[in-house]
Amino acid sequence: MLSQHPAADTAENLRRKQREYLFPNLATLYEEPLVLVRGEGKYVWDAEGRQYLDAFGGILTVGLGHCHPEVTGRAVRQMQTLQHASTLYINEPQVLLAEKLAHLAPGRLKRSFFTNSGTEANETAMVVARLYTGCDDVIVLRHSYHGRSMLTMSMGGTHSYRAAAPVPGIHHLASPYCYRCPFGLTYPACDLRCAKDVEELIQTATCGRVAAFVAEPIQGVGGFITPPPEYFKEVVSIVRRYGGIFICDEVQTGWGRTGTYLWGIEHWGVEPDVMTSAKGMANGLPIGWTITTDEIAQSFKHATISTFGGNPVSTAAALGVIEVILEEGLAENAAACGRLLMDGLKDLQDRYPCVGDVRGKGLMIGVEFVHGGKRPAPDLLGRWLEATRKRGLLIGKGGLYGNVARVAPHLNVTRGDVEEMLRIMGEALAEVQPYMEE
Ligand SMILES: Cc1ncc(COP(=O)(O)O)c(C=O)c1O
Repeated sequence: MLSQHPAADTAENLRRKQREYLFPNLATLYEEPLVLVRGEGKYVWDAEGRQYLDAFGGILTVGLGHCHPEVTGRAVRQMQTLQHASTLYINEPQVLLAEKLAHLAPGRLKRSFFTNSGTEANETAMVVARLYTGCDDVIVLRHSYHGRSMLTMSMGGTHSYRAAAPVPGIHHLASPYCYRCPFGLTYPACDLRCAKDVEELIQTATCGRVAAFVAEPIQGVGGFITPPPEYFKEVVSIVRRYGGIFICDEVQTGWGRTGTYLWGIEHWGVEPDVMTSAKGMANGLPIGWTITTDEIAQSFKHATISTFGGNPVSTAAALGVIEVILEEGLAENAAACGRLLMDGLKDLQDRYPCVGDVRGKGLMIGVEFVHGGKRPAPDLLGRWLEATRKRGLLIGKGGLYGNVARVAPHLNVTRGDVEEMLRIMGEALAEVQPYMEE
């Protein structure tokens, strides 16, 4: 007889077994890891029966809320019809999804390749760029995150997410991190020094040609670092002069999250040559997606397989996600509720000096915790996360120094939910502020 309940074991036993049988780097957000057993809409419940308002959505993945009936319904029906096909045959949901995405993606992006994760989507993009340009050198950003394979770990710009010797040919450009400008300058007087520096990086660290520049519109894991308005036009135009293409990693910023029609890069008015996504694309089912132009896709001539990539279940779910986002105007909602959330958090910043910076776009807002003199305060963030959890609110964390809260509620969040989140976040700040050091 199968267990009827996902947490028939006690929470304490599950924590013990987690510690014993899983890799040790998992479930580390809270001092006592949360054991989740159920999710519905904006709420999740833990094994002790506590309810939480979810403002992190499984790391910006459950964008429509937990177990969304339209998406889950489509996935279940597809599982009962045809669960797996492989890349040897054509399956309908994959083709329909690719057709839809060709119309929704920016500019000339048209041909898709599906995988299972953002990591694989970026691996695919890197192969495409290297085949198309015949060049291996790639420019990436410090503070970035692009995945956990050996290649994508090497592309990442945060030491704690990197392991082993880096893959060669990857060069890290300073990040457009205005709050902690790597050049000690201030926008706009800086004249975009961080973007212009790419030219010297190419001239000094490569043979003078590059395959690609890879970047997230807003650096997610890096702590929602949000570049200034002219940033991408400047840096991409220089990279293109040296033969490189622009790979835009929309794994976190896609699907209306930042309050644009669908893509984060729209805020910066630049068309990518390759775009990748995952996370929110199928509301929690595994999927990765790489799209490029007709011309660039032609360079991918060797045989290729992704066993589970483009499977009918994940692609049917993704079709459901897109329909819900467009029909329910969720990107507009992300823009409107995001403004409310941003204004509320800026008010809290004015009242609590331990909040050094509030940044982001739409429903992707970073709150950077500091001690005096802008010293990163991961300890204060840790206290704040415990204090918000205690009050029934889940928030994420990021940043090189582990001191940035990542607030990213579901796209269909209401104004009432935002007000409730702000009330809890304010109460928790009042609890944490006294621990700020001079
Ligand atoms: C911007 C970005 N790219 C790529 C990835 C990797 O995606 P996945 O975890 O699905 O492999 C992530 C994951 O957090 C991400 O935030």
